[in-house]
Amino acid sequence: MSRRLQGSIKNILTRAYFKYAGHIFSLLPWLLNFIPPRTLVVEASNMCVLNCPACTTVNLSKRAKGKMSFDVFKILLDGIDWKPKQINFSFAGEPLLNHELFKMIRYAKGKGIDSVVETNGMLLSGCIDELLDSGIYKLNIAFDGISQENISKYRRGMDFNVLLSAIRQLVATRARRNLQKPKVHLQFIVMKHNQDYIDRAIEMAKELEVDAIDFKSMIISVGLGFDREARQKHALEYLPDLEEFLRYKQIEGEWQLKETYRGFCTQVLSDAVIMWNGDVTVCSMDVQGDLVMGNILKSPLRKIWVSNKYSDLRQRILRRQLESCRDCGYLLGIFKTVKVRN
Ligand SMILES: C[S@@+](CC[C@H](N)C(=O)[O-])C[C@H]1O[C@@H](n2cnc3c(N)ncnc32)[C@H](O)[C@@H]1O
Ligand code: SF4
Repeated sequence: MSRRLQGSIKNILTRAYFKYAGHIFSLLPWLLNFIPPRTLVVEASNMCVLNCPACTTVNLSKRAKGKMSFDVFKILLDGIDWKPKQINFSFAGEPLLNHELFKMIRYAKGKGIDSVVETNGMLLSGCIDELLDSGIYKLNIAFDGISQENISKYRRGMDFNVLLSAIRQLVATRARRNLQKPKVHLQFIVMKHNQDYIDRAIEMAKELEVDAIDFKSMIISVGLGFDREARQKHALEYLPDLEEFLRYKQIEGEWQLKETYRGFCTQVLSDAVIMWNGDVTVCSMDVQGDLVMGNILKSPLRKIWVSNKYSDLRQRILRRQLESCRDCGYLLGIFKTVKVRN
């Protein structure tokens, strides 16, 4: 079969999935008993060294601060009877603050599960060999600016030189050790103050010899919880003018989500979020822990995933009955990857 035909079939199936899957699973929720989560979103820590204004983790979260222990992680993985596609250590907070992170990644790798980590890079230079030894599959590093002044408009507390030097050190050590992994992606959230520097950022990604740079659209509330006033303030201050990178549009003078193209939240069908203390929440925007469905220290993840409580909430989300989903930026992500290395 030609590549073109394969691509067309994939497109048709994807469109059909987004059109019908929400309805199917909301009418037949028991189907999910046979489909455990493909991705585990694991919160290594809900603390951070930076203070990004639209991030609920550092500005709002009412949850206790902490780091997941290896013991809790082991209970999670030993308790699952299927093989998730990947573990994503990118819920709230900075994962590299957790000194047991690489032990967890190694343990997951031992079970054949790949790990992805999202980091602001501030603590990266201190753990490069450990990171490379862990077998981590992919590292996404925050890189939404081209100078100290530019990047710290949003990444408050970021030291740009520390970031640059950590990326250089990582890429050089990976090459010296002749390793192909992890894939290293820079992550550039397009905002008002950096939208004119997209080309320069691509040049810098090439100079830094990373694998790719991802351009993401900004969310005005990373996590549920900011009130209307705070969201509008973030919108005014940070949303870019570039239409192609806007999840929002102005309706009657207020920034609101553009109509959703997905039609439903795919996340509730595919991801389970496990917080540092073992709590399981339905949604990777639930940084404040308002939608916790159980705890893996009391009950295995699959049992929580198929519980009536989880199924009822999942159904309400799929039917768009949950008020907190109304303004969720996650429903409309815009993502563009520029590969800079073969
Ligand atoms: C809460 S952060 C935690 C990981 C890490 N501390 C970091 O910032 O990369 C999870 C993801 O949200 C992204 N993020 C932060 N602020 C954002 C915003 N306003 N819009 C979209 N994504 C954002 C981060 O770049 C990261 O990929
Ligand atoms: S977005 Fe990431 S780096 Fe910024 S404050 Fe939140 S957790 Fe920290």
